[in-house]
Parts: sequence; structure tokens; C-alpha cells
Amino acid sequence: MLVLGIESSCDETAIAVVERGEKNAVLSESIKSQTPLHSPYGGIVPEIAARTHYEVIDLLTRQALQQAGIEIKEIDLLAFTQGPGLIGSLLIGLAFAKGLAWARKLPLVAVDHIAAHIEAPFITHARIAYPLLALVVSGGHTSLFFQETKFAGRLVAKTRDDAAGEVMDKIAKHFDLGYPGGPLLDDLYAQGDPSRFAFTEPRMSDGGNDFSFSGYKSAVLRQARSLNIRPGSRDFYDLLASFLSSLVDYMLKKTLTAMKNFPARSLIVSGGVSRNSLLRSRFERECAAAGISLYLPEPAYCTDNAAMIAWTGYEKYQAFPNLNYFDLCLNSYSRARFRENGRHR
Ligand code: KG4
Ligand code: ZN
Repeated sequence: MLVLGIESSCDETAIAVVERGEKNAVLSESIKSQTPLHSPYGGIVPEIAARTHYEVIDLLTRQALQQAGIEIKEIDLLAFTQGPGLIGSLLIGLAFAKGLAWARKLPLVAVDHIAAHIEAPFITHARIAYPLLALVVSGGHTSLFFQETKFAGRLVAKTRDDAAGEVMDKIAKHFDLGYPGGPLLDDLYAQGDPSRFAFTEPRMSDGGNDFSFSGYKSAVLRQARSLNIRPGSRDFYDLLASFLSSLVDYMLKKTLTAMKNFPARSLIVSGGVSRNSLLRSRFERECAAAGISLYLPEPAYCTDNAAMIAWTGYEKYQAFPNLNYFDLCLNSYSRARFRENGRHR
């Protein structure tokens, strides 16, 4: 079965063609990153994001089909990101997907963006054992889920303030390093001494299990101010490396504790921040030492992409055969959506 995936939740427009069934492969992926457009503002401008999706979505679809060497009439299934995300950006993907589904008389699967991030490691690892714990760390979300089976997830912890990637982006913005901050801090890490500065681990005043990251940003800014640390100095690189190291250790510690408290056979870490080199190497080392089966997406499938949307769309189509995928009102989807506790953050 050939599946066309459409992702437009944030500042990446992406279209992918995947083959599922007997053969399982990503045939093509066409991505337009809007980073240069948002960089001058140090963050995403929703109106620019939506307009850019609108301008490129058709062209990217043609490119993805061409790269895969197939024609639109050969596509069997459409999958698009229903949410969460920026509303203007999501609406462009929704309108495009509905139009294509209507014109080609194709079944249309609405995909939850977070469920797709969790599915991303399955693109390269077909057999990840359930039940599993999944840590989704991105620019919009930092959440831990326990999943008995695919699409049967329970939110067990979430951030109460910023997401992990958001904190990196805000710190980079404060020091005028550029946008997004995550990849920049990843590159700068090797230039600093991660043991130079200490950070207090966030704790919930109510004893809860959730994450909190905004204190990291305040601590970095406070240290820089009180010690008069300037960007480009040795102290500055030490401060950034110490921050990144503490942040990764904090997420690692909480995840390993959760692995002890839940009967999970596998651990997934996914989302844009799972592309971070330090995070990957520390999680790999500690999980190997603890005998935990860890699965990370390939770097290209960590950040937003359409292959994970197409992959998840196919899985959902198989898992819920009784839904009406030709209903363009999408009413029947809501029952099957992977959503717990109202919000994913
Ligand atoms: O999953 P994603 O593409 O979009 C959301 O769903 O939010 O994640 C984007 C986030 C940004 O905050 C970005 O700074 C972060 O992922 N990110 C990284 C790296 N690459 C992207 N953070 C740390 N290290 C990286 N290499
Ligand atoms: Zn994402």
C-alpha cells in the first residue's frame, strides 16, 4: 500500500511517500524548513508559518511523488497531521489533505502529531516490544507516556511550563545565537566544560511526577548576569555545556525512575530534542548499563517530518478498520484519537 503523508503542524512543510504492507520503506520525503524565515524573530511567527505552508505544499507534493517515481493515482491512502500544532499551519495541511482526498476519492487518516513522534522509531525498528514508555521531547512538548499497545497510551508526566526544546530556543534567543537553539547548543557543547556550573534539579512543590524546565532558563540567565559572562567567552561555553548536561541528566533520571515504576519492556525517546548528540549518547550508555531496550528514531525522523505521519496513518488505518475514512467531516476520528488528559505538553 502506498501512503502519502502530509505534515504542517509548525514550521516545517513536509510530504512523504511510504510503502507499507509486504514491503515497508520510506520512498521519498520532501521537506521545506522555514528556519531562515523565522530566524530574524528568534522564534516562530505563526502567520509566516501558515503562509509559507500554503505557498509550498503543492510543489512539495509533486516533488515527493516524483522522487518516489510514482503518480498520484497510484496512492492508496492519505495521512495528515490533525494536531496539536499552530492552528493556521494545521488548517493549510487539513484543507490540502481534504481537497486531495475528495479529488482522488482516497481514504483520509487524521494523525495525532505526538502519536507520530512515538511511532517514528518503528520506521527503522519494526519489532519494538510492548508495553513501552515513550518520552517525547520537542519544542512544543515534553511528555512521558505508558503504552500497553499501539494507540492505547496513558500520559504519566508532562512539563508544567516550557518544553525542553523551548528552553534551549529561549536561551539561544536571549544570547542572540540564532533559531532554533537546540542544534546550536548541540554544536557548541564540545567547546565547553560541562562540570563547571551546577544546576539545581527541578522538583514539584506538590511532590508530583511532572517535568519543569523554565527554572533552567532563569538559572542560566542569572549566572550569566551575576558573573558578567559574555557570549563567545570561555565561561559562556562552560555555562551552556553545563546547562545542557544537567538538562539531559534530569530527563534521563526521571525516565529511568519511570522505567522502574512501570512494567515497560522498551523505552522510546523521540521528538526534535532526541536528535541531540549528548542526549543520545547518555541515554544509550545508561540504558545499556541498566539492561533497558532503548529505541531512538533515525536523526531525520526526530524532528518534524511526514514519513512518521504516513507511517502512523497506515498503522491507524489497520488498527481501526471500522472508521469511515471517506468522511471528510472527520467526525468519526475523534473517538480513535490518541489523546489523554486533554492536552499534550
Ligand atoms: O519535533 P520538533 O521538530 O517540533 C515540535 O514538535 O516541537 O522539535 C523542534 C525542537 C526545537 O526546540 C529544536 O531546538 C529542538 O527540537 N532540536 C534540538 C536538536 N534539533 C532540534 N534540540 C537539541 N539538539 C538538537 N540537535
Ligand atoms: Zn514535532
